[in-house]
Amino acid sequence: MLTYATGVAGLIALGQVPGGAKDPTPALRANPFTLGVSSGDPRQDGVVLWTRLATEPLADDGMGGMPSVPVPVRWEVAEDDGMRRVVRKGVFTARPELSHAVHVEVNGLRPGREYWYRFTVGDETSRTGRTKTAPDPRWATEVSFAYASCQAWDAGFYTAYRDMAAQDLDLIGHLGDYIYENAIGATGGQRRTPLSAAHNAPTMTLSQYRLRYALVNTDPDLQAARAVAPWFFAVDDHDVEDNWGSDRSPMGGPPENFLRRRAAAFRAYFENQPLRPSTLPTGPDMSLYQSIGYGRLATFHVLDERQFRSPANVTARLDPSRSMLGERQASWLLDSMGRSRSEWNIMANQVMMFQLDRLTDPGLQQLNPDTWDGYAAERDRLWAGITRRKVANPVVITGDAHVNCAAELKADFADPESPAVGVEFLGTSITSGGDGTDTSAGGQEWLAANPHLKFFNNQRGYIRCRVAKDTMRADYVVVDKVTTPGGTASVRKSFVVESGRPALQDA
Ligand SMILES: [Fe+2]
Repeated sequence: MLTYATGVAGLIALGQVPGGAKDPTPALRANPFTLGVSSGDPRQDGVVLWTRLATEPLADDGMGGMPSVPVPVRWEVAEDDGMRRVVRKGVFTARPELSHAVHVEVNGLRPGREYWYRFTVGDETSRTGRTKTAPDPRWATEVSFAYASCQAWDAGFYTAYRDMAAQDLDLIGHLGDYIYENAIGATGGQRRTPLSAAHNAPTMTLSQYRLRYALVNTDPDLQAARAVAPWFFAVDDHDVEDNWGSDRSPMGGPPENFLRRRAAAFRAYFENQPLRPSTLPTGPDMSLYQSIGYGRLATFHVLDERQFRSPANVTARLDPSRSMLGERQASWLLDSMGRSRSEWNIMANQVMMFQLDRLTDPGLQQLNPDTWDGYAAERDRLWAGITRRKVANPVVITGDAHVNCAAELKADFADPESPAVGVEFLGTSITSGGDGTDTSAGGQEWLAANPHLKFFNNQRGYIRCRVAKDTMRADYVVVDKVTTPGGTASVRKSFVVESGRPALQDA
């Protein structure tokens, strides 16, 4: 039988109660802000502020060396980076049940404006983070954002995040594989950092997932990017287990075993990300898909392609009953896009949307059933629905594949003459896969076999975008090495899309 922790939902609400200030501040052995600060889910009047207290972030039990008592955390939001003009402040009680995570929902801020924030426990103060609210829906404010995915800690250094942190961004998206569930050995893989034996097992329990998030979030380059702009998040497979879908592990076994693991993974995910308190999972269920309005120019439709998908089945990819999104999310997405008045409608998507035949032989096709190619009938329905609703400028942003791709999305991939209905910017990994090379034999094959694929690159990095009224620009930022520190970032390729014309043009 499943036994999930009960009563957790109330804890988040309790954290916001001013009475929490009455809890005494326990004596701490060190500064508890070793996991950094972050903000997320920007709205026109507010954001979520996050930190998690840990005096010893890599304590084996995942509890960060904190005493098992509630800790009052003061927070402040100011209009200046010197924290002089404070406009909001309060006390949040960080509780051991949630590994001393802090999720403050700040409201009453002004639209389209920068703010700075910090936390204090006793005499210890966190770094100051910068965040930004979404513009008023009537404003045609240009939007700069970046997105990333796939950051296996032991595969290399987060040099790409150091470059991202230096950009002037309105928001940052993470499209999945924030952690990997694999065992990490005593020398820390490419990091060549000694680690305790607690890291050397696949993450299964809440303690193990908490420890894995702590390991990832201690990285200084990632901390810099987390502190520089508000984030939004999509979950993918490795955040729980490689290639999971719905209630199934690809390794088989009873669904209740997998759901217990999923509950542990989601709980740790929530505790470590700047998510709205209402995102707190109930057992193995976490509500993640949402749309984020960003002024008149952009709406982000953030998808969940794991919790509701039909099980992988390579022979049934055209079966119309199969779904990647699940019925409820699929109709929500079309409603959300149909209602949107934005110039650009950006779908934050986990797995490759464009059809990818990996073989050039015209008589053969090799498609990956874990991507939208395994759910082709639903993909056709989705794009028919988008076209019927005359959704303005649909753009898909994707992670997962550990390579850079840019593709035009066809109304019918079987017909080369079929019109493009949208574009997809698929971004590479931060570290997963190692240093990589500019191109590869496989990549050349992909380009030759798929005329709608316009760009391939096999290095690490992220994508930076700028949305204006008439154009959207995407810069593919790559780093020359990740398996050793000190890599250099550069823009490898840039595309521009004109409003009303779903085609990739060289910038
Ligand atoms: Fe990945």
